[in-house]
Amino acid sequence: MNSILRILVLITLLTCVQAFAAGDAERGEIRGETCLGCHGIASYTNVYPTYRVPKLGGQHAEYISAALKGYRSGERSHPTMNAQAAGLSDQDIEDIAAYFASIAK
Ligand code: HEC
Repeated sequence: MNSILRILVLITLLTCVQAFAAGDAERGEIRGETCLGCHGIASYTNVYPTYRVPKLGGQHAEYISAALKGYRSGERSHPTMNAQAAGLSDQDIEDIAAYFASIAK
């Protein structure tokens, strides 16, 4: 194997490892299913009482995970989302963020 090929293989392997560490969108889809009850609706407003729910699909994963960690720690305050984030592990948050970042805007 020549050295260029060896470097290419190494880069490919590193990219795979990074993609995994950043969050697994397939796991996030399962873990994030309940979120769609509020965040997946077409007009991004809750049915009743009517209030706006932020759109998550297509947001940057870093943005979503930072928001969730903020809700989990109480740094961001919102009763609904504090309760939603309370039970999430760091891995759950990364997976969910990867999932929402991957779906259509
Ligand atoms: C009962 C409805 C409801 C459910 C279920 C829900 N959310 Fe939310 N979510 C909201 C509302 C309302 C806000 C806006 C809160 C605010 O103004 O801070 C919000 C805000 C957010 C934000 C911040 C978005 C931004 O642009 O600032 C993120 C990220 C988020 N939710 C992720 C999730 C995830 C992940 C789940 C599932 C684990 C979830 N939510 C479940 C109603 C919900």
